[in-house]
Amino acid sequence: MSARPRIALIGCGRIGQIHAESLSSLRDRCEFAVVADPRADIAEQIAERLGASQWTPDAEEAITNPAIDAVIIASSTETHAAYIALAAEHGKDAFTEKPIALDIETTDRALAAVEDAGTRLQVGFQRRFDRGYHAARKDIAEGRLGSVEMIRDAMRDPQPPDPDYVARSGGLYRDMSIHNFDCVRWLMGEEPEEVFATASALVSDVIARAGDVDTSVVTLRFPSGALATIENSRRSGFGYDVRTEIFGSEGAIMVGEHRQTPVRRYDADGVHEDHQYFFLERFSEAYRREMIAFIEAVRSDQPVAVTGADGRAALLLAYAAERSLQEHRPIAIAEVLASVSTQEVPGA
Ligand SMILES: NC(=O)c1ccc[n+]([C@@H]2O[C@H](COP(=O)([O-])OP(=O)(O)OC[C@H]3O[C@@H](n4cnc5c(N)ncnc54)[C@H](O)[C@@H]3O)[C@@H](O)[C@H]2O)c1
Repeated sequence: MSARPRIALIGCGRIGQIHAESLSSLRDRCEFAVVADPRADIAEQIAERLGASQWTPDAEEAITNPAIDAVIIASSTETHAAYIALAAEHGKDAFTEKPIALDIETTDRALAAVEDAGTRLQVGFQRRFDRGYHAARKDIAEGRLGSVEMIRDAMRDPQPPDPDYVARSGGLYRDMSIHNFDCVRWLMGEEPEEVFATASALVSDVIARAGDVDTSVVTLRFPSGALATIENSRRSGFGYDVRTEIFGSEGAIMVGEHRQTPVRRYDADGVHEDHQYFFLERFSEAYRREMIAFIEAVRSDQPVAVTGADGRAALLLAYAAERSLQEHRPIAIAEVLASVSTQEVPGA
């Protein structure tokens, strides 16, 4: 692989623009070669502002371009799987935003294409690259907490996404909680065996009309007996809220820093600090670090840190949560596994 792999960015909406900023700032490690988005005006603007060599409205042209070594897929969710497969068929490594696809069958087809081609696929679970979550995982792996007994993992967005995004998102569990599912199984270091979910639509009529939920608590039981709870809401009156508490036999870790500026002011009205309003700010460093990790894996011909199998495992937990909600009962993961395709899981 060339010392500076040539990268195509597919999709430059909210998250694509964050990845474009990272690629632009990583010129010593890669060439930001092409940006593709059907909204040609935005593709052109991003290319000009951030120094991509070319832009195109045609994602397939960018992916199949022989001059491209690797592809960053940040387009709408329903496009990921086809682009992953196309990249693999043309021998290109790929980074994809979560989720890989909205269902397991499509996910498995994309993963099979990657397996057949022997290319890399990294999934965009950026929390794993956040310095706080990374430190927590390291402490757990090195035994500093003793045995982990409980995790409480909460994530709330400032406000619901726009109606078009809601319609294409796959619902709360496949779109949003999927970050929590990945985070909890990664922190715990084992796969949950049972999931129980309860949820409401309290925040948005659009979400309620779509048959989706916006306020949810999911509990997970692990084979060791350890328990986790995941809280999600599509609304938070004070801005983005992400925090995780991990309790072990020897101690606990709290992950979560909300301040934009590490300053706390004290006066007669109380104690005040500012706040990172949105996930794009809270995880800005993690998004850059996940991009560095992917590019370094490509450059050094090493495996990626977050695999297609991780993306699939998190989606399975979303399935379990949905089924639990529908059937008002705990769902064993074995039940979900029995109901999806029995095809061998590539990379698992
Ligand atoms: N990791 C994270 O924290 C995180 C955060 C936000 C979004 N995401 C994921 O990133 C993806 C994009 O989300 P977003 O919030 O940026 O959405 P967005 O709607 O802001 O942007 C999507 C972009 O994809 C483009 N697009 C649509 N169809 C396309 C196609 N066929 N080919 C190429 N581009 C196409 C659109 O024109 C748009 O510019 C989603 O899958 C979402 O789940 C991940």
